[in-house]
Amino acid sequence: MSILVLGGAGYVGSHTVDHLCNMDYDVVVADNLATGHREAVNDKAKFYQGDIRDKEFLIKLFQNEDITDVIHFAAFSVVPESMKDPLKYFDNNTYGMISLLEVMKDFGVSHIIFSSTAATYGEPKHIPIKETDPTIPTNPYGESKLAMEKIMHWSDVAYGIKFVALRYFNVAGAKSDGTIGEDHNPETHLIPVVLQTAAGQRDTLTIFGDDYDTKDGTNVRDYVHVEDLAEAHRLAMEYLRSGNDSNIFNLGSSNGFSNKEILEAAREVTGKEIPAKMGPRRLGDPSTLIADSSKAREVLNWKPQYDDVHTVIKDAWNFKTKHMNGYTK
Ligand SMILES: NC(=O)c1ccc[n+]([C@@H]2O[C@H](COP(=O)([O-])OP(=O)(O)OC[C@H]3O[C@@H](n4cnc5c(N)ncnc54)[C@H](O)[C@@H]3O)[C@@H](O)[C@H]2O)c1
Repeated sequence: MSILVLGGAGYVGSHTVDHLCNMDYDVVVADNLATGHREAVNDKAKFYQGDIRDKEFLIKLFQNEDITDVIHFAAFSVVPESMKDPLKYFDNNTYGMISLLEVMKDFGVSHIIFSSTAATYGEPKHIPIKETDPTIPTNPYGESKLAMEKIMHWSDVAYGIKFVALRYFNVAGAKSDGTIGEDHNPETHLIPVVLQTAAGQRDTLTIFGDDYDTKDGTNVRDYVHVEDLAEAHRLAMEYLRSGNDSNIFNLGSSNGFSNKEILEAAREVTGKEIPAKMGPRRLGDPSTLIADSSKAREVLNWKPQYDDVHTVIKDAWNFKTKHMNGYTK
């Protein structure tokens, strides 16, 4: 009985693989290394390099391994890139899901845990956002992920493949020993960009907009520690293994931090000045995104351990100082 982790060499995937390996699950990773890092994969996991759109690759893998559950992280996730090249996103993300489900159906594998996103909601109608709120994505990335959720729903109806879609808000932090962490190129997420500035790899941090209707005018986001997210995937897998129905859960800390608050916290944690300037708003940035994650806490019994953004930043900084230029350099 093995868990197949697709995209397990990426940021969230590698932490989930590490978490599962440390809890003695048998883990098989498949990743094309488009944005992932082979070094990030726990040595106890078996690794296959390949693309989930390549059905022959997947078929061989399912023939070789006794896969019972799939955790799916393998996708592209840079919003501005998706605006410029939407077909790249529908091909890799949405078509990748179809290819995977076809093979799962043929091999009788009927559990999938899926990395979804707050981008499925678009501009929120309520704060905090609930799973039952309208889903009207404002970019092709969010649309590609919402389509994947719908494809899983109809595959459940027709073939009985049960899914859990986990809609994450902003993921941050790193394993506390600094061995694995976030290494995207280009980096677009606020905390690693702030830390690149702290490390002197960027001259200045630009904060996009200080005239939003928030406590200090800058965007407010909900940061969830990557280790808490890893545990949520394990709980979601056990939820399906216990025979429960398909479901969708928000994952967030349910606390909102403004961009200025993140900058101030990073200055405190790193002891660096971190030069910053205000820039104009970016098109399509919602003012505030905060999750209502009470459903995951109640149904999955998820108990996030890290609700202090200082710890999140401290762990990310620890990884950064140990891997100044990322994994390979
Ligand atoms: N990081 C966040 O803040 C965040 C927030 C919400 C949702 N998500 C979702 O979580 C997932 C993981 O995010 P991440 O930050 O770890 O991204 P990542 O880019 O670090 O990881 C994605 C992994 O999937 C692999 N991959 C991509 N396409 C593939 C394919 N066709 N075949 C095989 N492997 C493929 C990449 O090489 C990479 O290792 C993504 O699906 C993303 O949409 C992330």
